[in-house]
Amino acid sequence: FRSVKTLKNSSSHLLRRGYGSEAVPERKVAVLGAAGGIGQPLALLMKLNPLVSNLALYDIANTPGVAADVSHINTRSEVKGYMGDAELGKALEGSDVVIIPAGVPRKPGMTRDDLFNINAGIVKGLCEAIAKYCPNALVNMISNPVNSTVPIASEVFKKAGTYDPKRLFGVTTLDVVRAKTFYAGKAKVPVAGVNVPVVGGHAGITILPLFSQATPKANLPDEEIQALTKRTQDGGTEVVEAKAGKGSATLSMAYAGAIFADACLKGLNGVPDVVECTFVQSNVTELPFFASKVRLGKNGVEEVLGLGALSDYEKEGLEKLKPELLASIEKGIKFANQ
Ligand code: NAD
Ligand code: LMR
Repeated sequence: FRSVKTLKNSSSHLLRRGYGSEAVPERKVAVLGAAGGIGQPLALLMKLNPLVSNLALYDIANTPGVAADVSHINTRSEVKGYMGDAELGKALEGSDVVIIPAGVPRKPGMTRDDLFNINAGIVKGLCEAIAKYCPNALVNMISNPVNSTVPIASEVFKKAGTYDPKRLFGVTTLDVVRAKTFYAGKAKVPVAGVNVPVVGGHAGITILPLFSQATPKANLPDEEIQALTKRTQDGGTEVVEAKAGKGSATLSMAYAGAIFADACLKGLNGVPDVVECTFVQSNVTELPFFASKVRLGKNGVEEVLGLGALSDYEKEGLEKLKPELLASIEKGIKFANQ
């Protein structure tokens, strides 16, 4: 651990959970895009996380207000707001985890790929700064299209000589969150005990929930599995349409982003058996990046886990998603190398 602090305050029982000692390491988390629809609730949730000791909130505008507001919450972390290019370095310096929800969201009728032209440049700039100011941080990429923004980040880091595939993650946790919720509803089981792996990527048919591996088992008929699969794949669009031009999922995404960041922090802190689905550099298929279950550890990715046994429907879905996912990956790589 980089530095260790013994906590004496009243919430120390929370901090000790899972460690077996009173020592909890200091951890800095930076949120880039912290004044946005995702950024604000995510800032709140990270402020509630007892594993965080420093919370850096960066955006191109409005961070002083968000930081002042969040900073009044009586939890462990010290909160600082940073605004504009000139303060980006300070926001990033010393970060253990950098979460990136910066960029424009979809409006009805748009695909995530329609966001590429704006968000690719935003992500590229932010990753150049990460390579310079906190090259060892775990990067949690939320900005869409994730299938392309993660490859962009990898190329930026390669160019800077800082790329470590163990430290770059596309956040696909919201797909898992949705799959669990929708499955629990159909299977009529308590959602808190549900697990569903979701693999592939994060757009339309590239999102492949593996309901054949869902627990607890519920022998749902094929039509219901297909409907659940489609609803999970279209979950983002469901929210975009319901918000009718006012953006995409923000609150559920903040929740999902906070779960994934917490898993990264636990892994860094040496908590054993932390497993989440995430979009990473991968050998699980012939594609260079792929989402699957990943064991997280002190260096980020500890092990990329395989897909397990798939149903025929899932095998078909896997083959169908590959061309689209590969094209999105290649688009990101090409952009970064222009
Ligand atoms: P938003 O417009 O509400 O917020 C985006 C924020 O990014 C704004 O505050 C903006 O000022 C900021 N920003 C823009 N350029 C920046 C830069 N260069 N540096 C720092 N900040 C910058 O959008 P939102 O609803 O929060 O969504 C953000 C992104 O997250 C979108 O691309 C959206 O598609 C994506 N998203 C991903 C998932 C997922 O599952 N991975 C889920 C939901 C949304
Ligand atoms: C989601 O899945 O909600 C996000 O990727 C946002 C979107 O555009 O659907």
